[in-house]
Formats: sequence, structure tokens, C-alpha cells
Amino acid sequence: QLIQKIAKMINQAQEIYFVGCGTTGVVSMCARYLFAKIAKKKVNFEYGSEFSHLEEILEPNSLVIGISQSGETIDTLEAIEMAKAKNCQTACITNVKNSTISRASDATILINAGIEKAVASTKATTSQLGILILLAFACIDKTMQAKQILHDASGKINDMLNPRYENILLKLAAKIKDSSDIYIIGKGINFPVAKEAAIKLQEISYIHAEAFAGGELKHGPLALIQKDTPVIVIASKDKNYHDILSNAIEIKSRGGLIIGISPESNEAFDIWLKVPKHDIDAAIINLIPIQLLSYFLGILKNNNPDKPRNLAKSVTVK
Ligand code: AGP
Repeated sequence: QLIQKIAKMINQAQEIYFVGCGTTGVVSMCARYLFAKIAKKKVNFEYGSEFSHLEEILEPNSLVIGISQSGETIDTLEAIEMAKAKNCQTACITNVKNSTISRASDATILINAGIEKAVASTKATTSQLGILILLAFACIDKTMQAKQILHDASGKINDMLNPRYENILLKLAAKIKDSSDIYIIGKGINFPVAKEAAIKLQEISYIHAEAFAGGELKHGPLALIQKDTPVIVIASKDKNYHDILSNAIEIKSRGGLIIGISPESNEAFDIWLKVPKHDIDAAIINLIPIQLLSYFLGILKNNNPDKPRNLAKSVTVK
């Protein structure tokens, strides 16, 4: 019902802004791709910390949707408060009932992922992506289709979480654990997925990790590639498949070690991380091997994967 209510708010609003920080910022960015693909609807995204530049252009018929696992992140809260001050409609997607952001918003969708204790967000991220899929389908009155997609996605995740798969990721972690840099590339929704991969790797492995849109490589980042630089290439079998593979080949010819995340093997991949076939659920599925790889890198480097240095679970002060 809440999904329907917020879908209605989305359909009635002139401009829609998804806002979040860190991982939820990246989830907000995924909204742009999901709503375009599923509901043929343009939605905007902004990081909470950069939201203030929109102050001059927010109109009362705009809708601002904050995404926050904790519901307490100061920059996301301030975005919601600013939107209210400009008489916009507000909503949030959060994991914490009665959180400050929930209380500040006109409507709340609780993701019900259970308490998330680890600083690095994983299950909340996956659940937020699920909610976005539900919302986008609800905008076109096809909620049942979304439910089926999410039901199938949970089965696919279940298939991946087994000792054999984990062992493949553990071996990969052992191979790249002493790398000074890891790059991740994606195109379409796999670009924000790559950005989320970089956040997970940074937090848990402390290795410098950076994401690029595949098509941006030639505009600078390709200069960073040296012999054996690990590059994770997220290659869904979608309309971007051939482009991202040709990016992978360019990197490989400069000596990069190509780690392909894809349902299908390819000769461009030095290491293949197989994922189940996917479509709308691409972000949910492709994140699983990255979350596991980050975890194993943290373990092998004797880092505490639940409590990364210098970070707090929720950032409530500026
Ligand atoms: C996620 O792994 C990070 N710890 C961090 O980026 C987090 O997503 C961010 O601080 C936002 O938190 P929130 O979802 O509770 O608002």
C-alpha cells in the first residue's frame, strides 16, 4: 500500500529527486536507470552532501525521496528538510522505523531488512534496490511482475551463496590482496553498481578502489592501467555487453588483469565470476560477488569487515 502511495506521488510530481549518501547515494543513482527502463520515467539523483545546489530550482510540485539505511544521515536529512522548506513533497526509504528522516518525511517505506550492524551496508543495499524495482513497476501498475522478479532474484542469490562459489572468491582475494589499486567498470546500471563496488572494496579491504563508466576510460583512466592491475568488468548480457567487452579488451591489451562478472564466460576475462542470468535485477545480482570479494579481502588482510577503521555506521554530524 505504501508502495502504491509513493508510486502515486511519483506519477503526480513534476520532478523527482532521489537522494542519499555513500552506498545509498549510489542506490539513488540506480533509480535513474531503473525508472527509465521500467516506467519510462525520468528521475534525478543527487548525493545528500551536494543537494543544496538544487535549492534555487526546487519547485513545490517536486518530490524528494531520501534513501537511508539508518534514517539518521545528516546530509540526507538536510535535503529532506530543505525540500520541505520549499514546499515539496517528501518521502523516504529506510530500514529504521521512527528514524529522524522518516519522521521528517511525508511518507516512509520501511525496507524491513532486519537490523544491519556492520558498517558496510550489504543486505540493506540489496533490499533498497528491491524497493526501487517495486516502486518503478508500481508506477505502471505492474507490481505483481516486480514481485516475481524479486522472488526469482532471491533464489539466484541463494544459489550463489555456497561454499564452492565462496572458495572461488577467496582464491581471487588471495591473488589480488596486495594490489595497490583495483578498478571497476560498468555501463548503464552497472556504472552505479561499479561505484558501489568501489565503496565496498575501500571500506573493507582498504585497497584504493575506483569505479569508472566504461565509456569514460579513453578520456583519462586508461592511463592508470599497468601490468596486472586488477580491473573488475561488470558485463551483463544487455545492450551494453559489446561496448563493455571492448573496454575490457583495451584494458587487457595494456596488461590489466580482467575479472569479469557476467553470466557468460568470455576470452577477454582472465578470471570469470559467473553470476546467474539477470535483467532488471542486474544491480542486485552483480553486487553479490563484489560483497563477498570485499569480505574475503578484509579477512585476508586482517581487517575487521564489520568495523572498518575511521568509519561510523551512520554519519549524524557534519
Ligand atoms: C555503506 O557501506 C557505507 N557505510 C556508507 O556509504 C553508508 O551507506 C552511508 O553513510 C549512508 O548511510 P545511510 O544509508 O544510513 O544513510
